Amino acid sequence: MKPVNVGLLGLGTVGGGTVNVLKRNGEEIARRAGRGIEIVHASARDLNKPRICDTAGMQLTNDANEVVDNPEVQVVVELIGGDSLALELVMRAIDNGKHVVTANKALIAKHGNEIFAKAQEKGVMVAFEAAVAGGIPIIKALREGLAANRIEWLAGIINGTGNFILTEMRDKGRDFEDVLKEAQELGYAEADPTFDVEGIDAAHKLTILASIAFGIPLQFDKAFTEGITQITREDVEYAEELGYRIKHLGVSRRTENGVELRVHPTLIPERRLIANVDGVMNAVLVKGDAVGPTLYYGAGAGDEPTASAVVADLVDVVRALTSDPENRVPHLAFQPDAIEDIGILPMAEIETAYYLRMQTEDRPGVLADITRIIGDQGISIEAFIQKEPEEEGANVTLIMLTHRVREQNMEQAIGEVEALDCVVGKITRIRMETLK
Ligand code: NAP
Ligand code: HSE
Repeated sequence: MKPVNVGLLGLGTVGGGTVNVLKRNGEEIARRAGRGIEIVHASARDLNKPRICDTAGMQLTNDANEVVDNPEVQVVVELIGGDSLALELVMRAIDNGKHVVTANKALIAKHGNEIFAKAQEKGVMVAFEAAVAGGIPIIKALREGLAANRIEWLAGIINGTGNFILTEMRDKGRDFEDVLKEAQELGYAEADPTFDVEGIDAAHKLTILASIAFGIPLQFDKAFTEGITQITREDVEYAEELGYRIKHLGVSRRTENGVELRVHPTLIPERRLIANVDGVMNAVLVKGDAVGPTLYYGAGAGDEPTASAVVADLVDVVRALTSDPENRVPHLAFQPDAIEDIGILPMAEIETAYYLRMQTEDRPGVLADITRIIGDQGISIEAFIQKEPEEEGANVTLIMLTHRVREQNMEQAIGEVEALDCVVGKITRIRMETLK
């Protein structure tokens, strides 16, 4: 049988990795797919740039539209990134009746609803395994492997760059900026690395996971996002003293009042497996009612781990080329007419535990004032540490862990405590999850 012709948009980190994996493992991949998979046409901005892959045998262009319009191309792989040009190209490919594979989480999280509607109308597939958690087949696991379950919640370390930075800062005492630069050199970071460190990239991925887990539309604009730039070495050390690790976590939970959709630094008990996921590795914990908790682990970024997911999607698309569109796995796991518009819970309504760190004057009555305010908001304290002042008369550091409380009560308590004369500066607040 003739090989399937692929058009590749982007020859950067993931594009290059995809070419290399397809070349190296082509024979075995063909045995799995039932046909060869060949990249016949590829585009990049600058055709003179050195590449990590060998592009011999491919037609090359700096006009991506040529690839999308090439009648010989059956599947378009979008590895450019961003959500303007990529959206135009993907919609044009679908209009041209081509199947699409993409690693672009921004594109799917922000425009997935319209992309999938158009794909359904045209009877083509849009596959996006590489968009979430790099090489981990989490989309497949959620969409197919866990199809029997009512998913209760999921939580994941879903940004490799952020986890790499937090790990290097903790283990080697390195500077934030220095580690970020290395992550960029290694090809982990987004074109705009603030997406990684401010949690936007993780929120894109969480939006996709939540839709597939709960059968809801993609609602990126409702995700709560807090980054890792405010995490200090001292918070990392205090957390460890208390038996916790700080991880940048995406959490989505189904509650009676709506779905939680939040990305923020989180204290996790150090005995949890996910607390020990370090470097560029990602992990996603999914709790299904029948299966219980399941954990998926692997490289979250990088050329070949991501290419692994891109090529797996290509194999899936090739296998399903002759299937009836109505019988394919739905893009968002649930049949399009069975997607339920369950609301996203506002952050003020979510319940979680907290780590608080504050500086106070070292005099009698301070603790009583603080605990009274906290108690009045119905917050109970689980653990408390007072650090010795560095010198006589200096301020002291107080660290508290609280039990679960509604975010709006915590906000109120923090505001009132910060207003006390004996409290110096702002309170550091980090959310805490036991992930039981
Ligand atoms: P990259 O290394 O920057 O590669 C982007 C490619 O797109 C380059 O070949 C670039 O051409 C081309 N390109 C950029 N702008 C273009 C334009 N206006 N017109 C035509 N071509 C253009 O990016 P990447 O890291 O491979 O990421 C690609 C996608 O995969 C993104 O959506 C990203 O979020 C996603 N992703 C990345 C990773 C990862 O570990 N890097 C993991 C999972 C998902 P030139 O090379 O000539 O500049
Ligand atoms: N910049 C992303 C990360 C790439 O670091 O996780 C993988 O999606």
